[in-house]
Amino acid sequence: MAGQIPQRFIDDLLSRVDVVEVVGERVQLKKAGRNYSGLCPFHQEKTPSFTVSADKQFYHCFGCGVHGNALRFLMEYDKLPFPEAVEQLAGRLGLDVPREGADDPRAQQREKKRKEGVNLLELAASFYRERLKMREGQSAQRYLENRGLSAEVIQTYGIGYAPGGWEALKQHLSEREISEPVQVEYGLLIHREDTGRTYDRFRDRVMFPIRDLRGRTIAFGGRVMGDEQPKYLNSPETPVFHKGRELYGLYEARQASSKLEQLVMVEGYMDVVALAQYGIHNAVATLGTATTEDHLSRLFRLVSRVVFCFDGDRAGRQAASRALETALPLMIDGREARFLFLPEGDDPDTLVRREGSEAFKDRVTCAMPLSEFLFEQAAQGRDLNTVEGRERFASQVLEALNKVPDGMLKSLLLEALAKRSGLAQQQLQVLLEKRAASPKEQAYWEPVAEPMVEEDIGQATPQPPKPRTRSQVLTPVGRIVQLLLHEPSVVSAVPESLDWLPEDDDTPLCRDLIALLQAGRYRSPQVVLAHFQGSPQGQVLAVFAKRELLIPKAAREAELTGLIEHLQQKQRKRSPQEEYEALLAQERAGQKLDKQQRQRLASLVVELAQRF
Ligand code: UTP
Ligand code: MN
Repeated sequence: MAGQIPQRFIDDLLSRVDVVEVVGERVQLKKAGRNYSGLCPFHQEKTPSFTVSADKQFYHCFGCGVHGNALRFLMEYDKLPFPEAVEQLAGRLGLDVPREGADDPRAQQREKKRKEGVNLLELAASFYRERLKMREGQSAQRYLENRGLSAEVIQTYGIGYAPGGWEALKQHLSEREISEPVQVEYGLLIHREDTGRTYDRFRDRVMFPIRDLRGRTIAFGGRVMGDEQPKYLNSPETPVFHKGRELYGLYEARQASSKLEQLVMVEGYMDVVALAQYGIHNAVATLGTATTEDHLSRLFRLVSRVVFCFDGDRAGRQAASRALETALPLMIDGREARFLFLPEGDDPDTLVRREGSEAFKDRVTCAMPLSEFLFEQAAQGRDLNTVEGRERFASQVLEALNKVPDGMLKSLLLEALAKRSGLAQQQLQVLLEKRAASPKEQAYWEPVAEPMVEEDIGQATPQPPKPRTRSQVLTPVGRIVQLLLHEPSVVSAVPESLDWLPEDDDTPLCRDLIALLQAGRYRSPQVVLAHFQGSPQGQVLAVFAKRELLIPKAAREAELTGLIEHLQQKQRKRSPQEEYEALLAQERAGQKLDKQQRQRLASLVVELAQRF
C-alpha cells in the first residue's frame, strides 16, 4: 500500500531534474541571457512573458503570474496530482518512488481514506445514473423529458437521480465498505449533531455531477422536481471541491472540442446542458456563486475570449457589473471579455429552445465588448451634455481603468474616454496617474510635454521638504529606465555615445539596460525583468515595472528623444572643469568610458592644462 513520499526524495529529485528540460519538452523555449523564454502555456499570448530560469530551477509568467518548479509545472500542465507528477519525474531518472510509513497503521488509514474519497464520488455518480433508469427514477425521467433534455445529453453530462427516502445512497456506499465519516466529509451524508443520526444529503432530486478537468466527479448539484426549496442543492466545500474555483461544464466543453477559442459563462446547470443539446458546447456555469477571479483566470488559461451571459433585468445588470469589476485586473493583452444581455424573462435555456442555436450564436457573436459595457455603466444616469456629468463619467471610467493592466486595452480605453468626455488625453493620463499613486505616494512624475527636469519637480513641491526617494521623484535617468523597460524597442532612439548620461543613482542600471537592449535580445518588459531577477538592480526594475507607463506607445519614443536632448543640452552647459571631473568620477567608479568619452577626456586634459 502506498504511503507518503518522503520529502528527502522530493528534494533530491528536484535537484536532479532540469526544469528547462521538462518545460522545454512541452513549450518552445528560446535562450534569453541566463534564462529561457517562450509563450506561456497557461494563458493565451502573442509575445512571450513566460520565463524559465535554469539557475533557480523555476518558471514564472509575468503575464498571468503562474510560477513554480518542475513538479508544479507537471501538475499544472499535464494536470497531474502531486504523487503522479513525482512518479513521472522519477521515471525520467529511472528511480522508484519510495513510500514512507507503508507499514505505519496511521499512514495506511490516511491512504485508505483518500482512496475512499476519490472512489465514493464516482460510486455515488454511477449510483444516481443507475437509479434514473430504474422504476423509482421514472418521475425524474419524466421531469427531464418535460424540460426537453435528450437521452444523449443526459448521458454526456452523467445526469442521474437521487432516490427519496433517507438512506438509499448511505446503504449503497456502506455495503461497499465506505465509512460514514468519509461520506460525511465528501458531502454526501449529513450528520446531525443533536441526534447523532446520519442521512443522505440529496434526496428525490435530479443530480448533476460536477467534474474536474480530468472528468472525475468532485461534487454534485441536485434539483428538486417540484417547488420545494432550495431549488438547487450543491455539495458543500470538501477536500476536493471548492465552489469559488470550479465551473460546471468545463470538462464537457473541453471534451467536445480540443480547440476551444471562447467560453460562454451562464448562470445555471440547465443553461449549460440545454445549450449543449443545441450544439453550443462551450458554455460553463459557476455553482450558485458570483464569478470569482479564480474562475476567470482558469478560463483565460484555456481560451482568450470569455462571453458573460446575464439576464436582461436589473439583477442581471448588477451581476454583470460585478463580473466587470472582477475581469478588469485580468485583462492583459490578448484577452477579451464580452457581455451578453438576454431579453427579460429569458435564460439561455429558454432562449435557445425558443430561438434555436443559430440565433443564440448570433447573440454571442454580437455580445457587447467590455469597453462598451464599461462606458455604458459610467454614463448611466448622467447627463453628458453637462460639464459635471462628463466629469463624473470620466472619473468613473478612470477608476475602472486604474485596475486594468498596462497594455493595448488600457491605451484604447483612454483614447476612447478622451473622445467621449471631451477631456484631453494628456489630462486624463495625469488624473489616472494621480489615482494610481496611493495617498501617501503622490504622483512621482508629471507627464508634461517638455522633458522633465529634476528642478522642476523640486519646485512643484517645495514644502514640506521630503527626502527624495525613488517612490516620490523620478529623475530623468529614472524615467529613461522606465521608458526602456516598458517599451524596449525605443532603445533604437538612444544615440551610440552615452556621454549625455549624468551621474545618478540609476545611471549604472540605465547603462546596463541600454547595452542589453542594444544587443537586441530582449523585446518585452517581462524578459528584461527576468534577466535582472534576483539582483539589486532587479528590485529597482521591479519598482519601475509597477509604475505603469501612461502614455500611448506612439508617444514613448518622442519622450525618450526629448529627455536625451534635454540631458545633452544640460551637458553642453557644463564647464570644462565639471565635465572633466564627471568623466574622472565615472572612470573611478569602475565604469568604462566609451571611445568618444576617452577622446573627450584627453582633449579636456589639454584644454584645462592650457588654462593654468
Ligand atoms: P436559477 O434559479 O436561475 O436556475 O439559478 P436555472 O438554472 O434557471 O434553473 P431551472 O431552469 O429552473 O432548472 C441559477 C443557478 O443558481 C444556482 C444553481 O447553480 C442554478 O443553476 N442555484 C439556484 C443554487 O445553487 N441554489 C438555488 O436554490 C437556486
Ligand atoms: Mn432556467
